[in-house]
Formats: sequence, structure tokens, C-alpha cells
Amino acid sequence: MTKLRAMITGIQGYVPEYILTNKELEKLVETNDEWIVSRTGIKERRILKGENQGTSVMGIEAVKGLLEKTGTNPMDIELIICATVTPDMPFPATANIIADKVGAKKSFSFDISAACSGFLYALQMGSQFIQAGTHKKVIVVGADKMSSIVDYTDRTTCILFGDGAGAVLLEATTEDYGIMDAILKSDGSGEHFLHMKAGGSRRPATLETLEAREHYAFQEGSTVYKFAVTNMADVSAEVMERNGLKGEDVAWLVPHQANKRIIDATANRMGIGQDKVMMNIEKYGNTTAATIPLCLWDYESQLKKGDNLILAAFGGGFTWGSIYLKWAYDPK
Ligand code: UT7
Repeated sequence: MTKLRAMITGIQGYVPEYILTNKELEKLVETNDEWIVSRTGIKERRILKGENQGTSVMGIEAVKGLLEKTGTNPMDIELIICATVTPDMPFPATANIIADKVGAKKSFSFDISAACSGFLYALQMGSQFIQAGTHKKVIVVGADKMSSIVDYTDRTTCILFGDGAGAVLLEATTEDYGIMDAILKSDGSGEHFLHMKAGGSRRPATLETLEAREHYAFQEGSTVYKFAVTNMADVSAEVMERNGLKGEDVAWLVPHQANKRIIDATANRMGIGQDKVMMNIEKYGNTTAATIPLCLWDYESQLKKGDNLILAAFGGGFTWGSIYLKWAYDPK
């Protein structure tokens, strides 16, 4: 039987209009532009403003744009997967809401929770449905409204995160393009270092949890930093090695955008020059599940058919992973 692969045939991003600058953060917490830029590489991030505006709002915009750009009829979409840790509500899934609002009435849809590695998990999951031959058109969304779980009195986290969404269309091919290999990992013993303490079944919302400010993202930054540098580089090296790829064979490293220093260290370990690393952390900050599709969106015009891309992420869970994909189309 002919082997099917899933290839990305379109990419679209969406970021809200409002720009939260480092200067503005200086008014909220004791920080400064110089510290933020030198320690993280972030200059500004986007924030979704307005009442009743959840993550789905950004996911819908990204998917609508993707359908339009690729000339795809929403009724032909068979599956939508949304990676997010900031769903509109605990249930139903944000993917259900996106599917409904974009008119993908024949599609089934579900969310994946894998924090900053969410897009990689969802991409591999979507790819499996295509490879199995059961689904022909799958949309994978990475979307997070991090501003809804960020404590703007905590200088160690509020400078890091932003809001955004990105979506890709996956279709089948029998050629050697698309998702070639993936290594995905998790280690739940990392929960203590990056989590939201309350709001789940272990500690449902109470006055006490609210007063203790437990409904925000908590991170022990320096510990996560060490794990991120080691694991992101290790897993990327592993995926390159088992596919016989050297640094010079890789056209682009597409890393999760958590910290410029983590990205630089990962690229160094992989023997990949700075000019081959996708980076947009300076303008969006860390948008969790959206960082990788937003990078692909920003760099789409520079991507050529046959380019070898290594996608890599590390995040809450801990979760981490790397995907090797061969880009399937030239700039349009
Ligand atoms: O995306 C999910 C995965 N997340 C990550 O990969 C993030 C990993 N971690 C990081 O990127 C970095 O650890 C941070 C950017 C979060 C922090 O950078 P750091 O170099 O590890 O700083 P630190 O936490 O060791 O703090 C150094 C100092 C501390 O002061 P003292 O104790 O040395 O006096 C902090 O209180 O910097 C202080 N500090 C700040 N100063 C000014 C922490 N945040 C700020 C701030 N402005 N916003």
C-alpha cells in the first residue's frame, strides 16, 4: 500500500491589535526594558482586549484566514484540533467552538493540553489521522490567551507572555514532503515548576484560592530554563540523528519562543547558525501553543519546497518534543 504523509499546505496566524510594551509594564511592576530585553529578547507582546473575548476568537480568525487563503470549503474539513491551555471554558472544547464558527459543520474537533509543546503534539496527532488514510483535510490550531492567566503584579511572569493564534492545514501526499518524523515526550514530575495552582478538580475556585492569587500561571523560571535548554536541544539532536541530518542540512530551526537565550543555546547545540533560526519573540513574547505556527506564518514567504525544518518546543508538564518536516510548497 502507498505510504501517506501529512503535509502542511497553508499557514495563517492572528494576533490581537493591542500592543503591550516593556515601557507599559514598567508602570505595572518593578522592571525595566533593559532587563526584559537582555534576559528574554522580548520587546512587546499582543493582548486580546474586550469583554467575553476568549481564545476561540483568535483561533476563529486564524482558521477563517487559512480557509480563505487556501481556497478551502469549510465543509471539507474533517477534523480540527486546537492546542491550548487557556480554553474559553473547561468544556466544551475550544476546538468545538472554532469548528462551529468557521462553518466546519462536518468536522469533529477536540482540544489538546500540552502547554508550550501543544502545537507539536496536535500536529503529530493530526498527521496520524492523515497517515491512517481516514481523514483528508485536518486543521491544527495553536492558540492561547495567556493574558487571562497572567498575574500582572508578578514581574517574573507578566513580562513573558502574550496572546495569539496560528493554524495550519494538513493534507495527504504520497511524495516525500510533510511531517517526516516526531519525538514527543512528557514528565509529570515537572508540575511543581510550571503550573496553575487552582481552578481544576484538585483545587476548585474558592474565595481562598482567589485571594491567594492561585488562578494565575506560576513558574519557577530558572529551573524551567535549565530543563528547557537541555531537553529541547537533546530531542532535536535525536530527531536529526535518526534522520541522518546534519546542521547544514537544516534550512530552518523553528523553536518555541520562550526566551531568546534558550533559543540561542538550542541552535548552538544543534550546530545551526543564527540566520537559520526563526525568531519573533521580540514582537509577540511567549504565546504558548501559538509560538511555532506564528513563526511559520511570519517566515512563510522565505520557505521553499523541500526545505528541512526542525520544530522544537519545551513547556509545562513538563512536555517537550521535536518534529522534522519537509516544507511542501514554494512562496505563492
Ligand atoms: O514557555 C514555557 C517554558 N518556559 C520557559 O522556557 C521559561 C524559562 N525561564 C526563563 O526564561 C528565565 O528563567 C526567566 C526569563 C523567566 C527569568 O530569567 P533568569 O535569568 O532565570 O532570572 P532569575 O529568575 O534567576 O532572576 C534573576 C533576578 C532575580 O533577582 P535577585 O534574586 O537576583 O535579586 C529576580 O528577582 O532578576 C529578578 N527579576 C527581575 N528583575 C527585573 C525577575 N524578573 C524580573 C523582571 N525585572 N521582570
